[in-house]
Amino acid sequence: MKIRIINGPNLNLLGTREPAIYGELTLKEINGRISKKAKELDVEVDFFQSNHEGEIIESIHDVTGIDGYVINPAGYGHTSIAMLDAVKGAGIPSVEAHLSNIHSRESFRSHTMTSSAMIGVITGFGYFSYILALEAIVNHLRTIKKEK
Ligand code: DQA
Repeated sequence: MKIRIINGPNLNLLGTREPAIYGELTLKEINGRISKKAKELDVEVDFFQSNHEGEIIESIHDVTGIDGYVINPAGYGHTSIAMLDAVKGAGIPSVEAHLSNIHSRESFRSHTMTSSAMIGVITGFGYFSYILALEAIVNHLRTIKKEK
């Protein structure tokens, strides 16, 4: 089973970007922790980050060999109907993850366009949101496989 971890704009700046909100780990360090969890769960992961909406959409379209997504759409989550359509169009399960609690911040952050296409949303646990999201998507995929 292979899960792609997709990160949207400005998440390449993690570590120095508003650390009081997003924590002090870099994206590379977070990806290292995700890889460790993936080994424990006996699944493969790959990683994609872009600041460009179209590149993120193309990464979502590229489902070859991928069973599910963990997506932090970052700022585009709040605005991008195109990303919502991409997740729907890809036709494989996705979980949305946010480092910060989007519901306890500015009101414009509490709605994401993308969330209605997701299995679920995990928000507010810092880097651990990705770990929980990985567990959730793997559990979802293993459960639906058993049910079939
Ligand atoms: C974020 C929350 C978004 O509101 C923000 O635009 C981000 C990061 C998070 O992980 O907490 O870039 O998705």
